[in-house]
Amino acid sequence: MPVSTNVPLNFGYPWWLSYGHLPFLAAAVALLLLGYTRKWSKWTMFLLGVFALWSSAAFFVARFVFNVNGRATLPTQSFLRSGTGRVIDLGAGTGRSTIMVLESRPLTTVVALDLFGSSFEQHFGPSPSPQQKLMANLKAAGVEHRATIQTADMRKLPFDSGTFDAAVSSYAIDHLNSEGIRESLAEAARVVKPGGDFLLIVIAKEPWIQFAFGPLFMHSNIRGADWWSTRLQEAGFQVLEEGTRPATRYLLARRL
Ligand SMILES: C[S@@+](CC[C@H](N)C(=O)[O-])C[C@H]1O[C@@H](n2cnc3c(N)ncnc32)[C@H](O)[C@@H]1O
Repeated sequence: MPVSTNVPLNFGYPWWLSYGHLPFLAAAVALLLLGYTRKWSKWTMFLLGVFALWSSAAFFVARFVFNVNGRATLPTQSFLRSGTGRVIDLGAGTGRSTIMVLESRPLTTVVALDLFGSSFEQHFGPSPSPQQKLMANLKAAGVEHRATIQTADMRKLPFDSGTFDAAVSSYAIDHLNSEGIRESLAEAARVVKPGGDFLLIVIAKEPWIQFAFGPLFMHSNIRGADWWSTRLQEAGFQVLEEGTRPATRYLLARRL
C-alpha cells in the first residue's frame, strides 16, 4: 500500500504549457471592454470575441486535457498485463512516467533512468540535483521504495541483456536524432526479456494540440505511426497496438 507524503507532486514542466493562454484571454477581454466603451466596429468586436473564446477553450484543453504537470495514466491496459516484474523507464525526467507505471502496476519495481543533462535542464529548468527532483516526486507519490534512480544514457544502457520484464519511455526517445532513436530502441530491445512489453509514448501532431497551440507548436522529430512501427520492428519488437491520446501517440510492442 503506497504511503504518500503531504508534499504535492511537482513534475516541473514550464508554466506556459498549462497557463500560457491566460494572458491572451486577459488581453482579449480587456480589449473587448475597451472596444465596448469606445464603440469599436462590430467586426472588430466579433474578431476579439472569437479570439477570447479560442483562448479560453485552448486554456481548458492545455490545463485539463493535456495536464502535463498532472499524473499520467497508462494509455493502454494491455501493458504488462501480468502486473508484476522489473521495468525500466528510459528518460524518466521528474518521474511522471515512472509514477504512472508504479501506480497502475503496484507489484512492479522501476529503474528510472535519465541522463539528467542539458535536455533535463531544457525541460525542467536548472537544478543543483535533478535526481532529487525526481526522488521528491517518487516520495510524494509514496512509491520510492519500489524505484531506483539511474543516471545513464539510454543509447548505451549499463545493464546486461534480458535484465527487465518490460520497458517504458514517454516523451523522451523522440527528443533524440534518428541515430539516437535507433540506438535507444536497440538498447531497449536488448535489455528487455523475450516476450517482454515495451510501451513507447511520443508527442503527436493531432487535432487537440493543433487547436491549442496551432503553428506555435514546434517539436523535433514528430513522426507518424508507420515510422515508429518500422523503427520498433527493426529493433526487434513486434507492434501489438497503436493509438493516440491528446498530444500523444503510443505504441505497445513485444520483444520477439
Ligand atoms: C520531456 S522529458 C520526459 C520525462 C518523463 N518521461 C515524462 O513523461 O514526463 C525527456 C527526458 O528525456 C531525458 N533524456 C534525453 N536524452 C536522453 C538520453 N540520451 N538518455 C537518457 N535520458 C535522456 C531528458 O533528460 C528528459 O528528462
